Amino acid sequence: MLIERSAPGKVILCGEHSVVYGEPAIAAPVSTLRAIATIAATETALKRGLRLIAADLEESLYLGEAPATHPLAAIVRQVLNHLGGPPAPNAILTVRSALPIAGGLGSGAAISVAAARALAAYLGHELSPETVSALAYEVERLHHGTPSGIDNTVIAHERPVYFVKGSAPELFTIAAPFTLLIANSGIAASTREAVAGVRRRYEAAPTEYVARFARMGALAQAAREALTQGQWATLGPLLDENHALLQAIGVSLPALDRLVEAARQAGALGAKLTGAGGGGNVIALVTPETAGEVCLALEKAGAHQVWQTTVG
Ligand code: MEV
Repeated sequence: MLIERSAPGKVILCGEHSVVYGEPAIAAPVSTLRAIATIAATETALKRGLRLIAADLEESLYLGEAPATHPLAAIVRQVLNHLGGPPAPNAILTVRSALPIAGGLGSGAAISVAAARALAAYLGHELSPETVSALAYEVERLHHGTPSGIDNTVIAHERPVYFVKGSAPELFTIAAPFTLLIANSGIAASTREAVAGVRRRYEAAPTEYVARFARMGALAQAAREALTQGQWATLGPLLDENHALLQAIGVSLPALDRLVEAARQAGALGAKLTGAGGGGNVIALVTPETAGEVCLALEKAGAHQVWQTTVG
């Protein structure tokens, strides 16, 4: 028996970081870039339990020898626990992902969701989006400290989401699809460190930071309005202003600003970093007519990879 399950990546359109402080944020799945998990019975006579293989990292270990902090072992333990504690099967669970690691596109949550679904299915269960999101959130907590929960939510539901930390997520429909370019700076960045850096700066200047977070929240609300009404072009200036606010809270980098500027110069309707910042990816809102030109400009400005995706 071989079982395969997958999960998409995600982009935050408006509201990263401010979402940690209770403001709304908007995120959308990136269905073309996915994490994939497969699970198959072990063929060897040695029944040593569940073997975990992270193919992209060339890492392989048995569940029994994995520390509590190992992300793949952690999601497996979450699933087994949720299912009432069955023994881990004698099987091989392999994960691989088209998403850059530490790139702000939700690679960790996507791997958790894909792995949880594959293991549960192998044991005869299908997990609901709500359940798989909650299980993946526990792993996010292990790694990011105080995650808002937006990544596991948008990835588990694979729907655009208007998200306020601590409230039920509002899944919504984008009335008219639009095109985004996602450009990878090639700089790996730790979400935990980026979030901790913002926390330090917020504590040193709470009034300024609260005002910036509130404005980011207002942009997320305006973005939802625009997208539900099919007026995606009005998203452009919202992305631009959100990037300026992310610069102001200290999470952009010259390399990211260069990509954003190059995209705008080449005709993008708006551009910003996406995710925690400090590296990772930028997104640029384009039309089918400008996509090629903007893609070239991003590559010239140092993008390691550029992906085109349709949202909605
Ligand atoms: C998540 O992709 C980005 C941050 O907003 C952190 C979080 O929401 O937990 C920076």
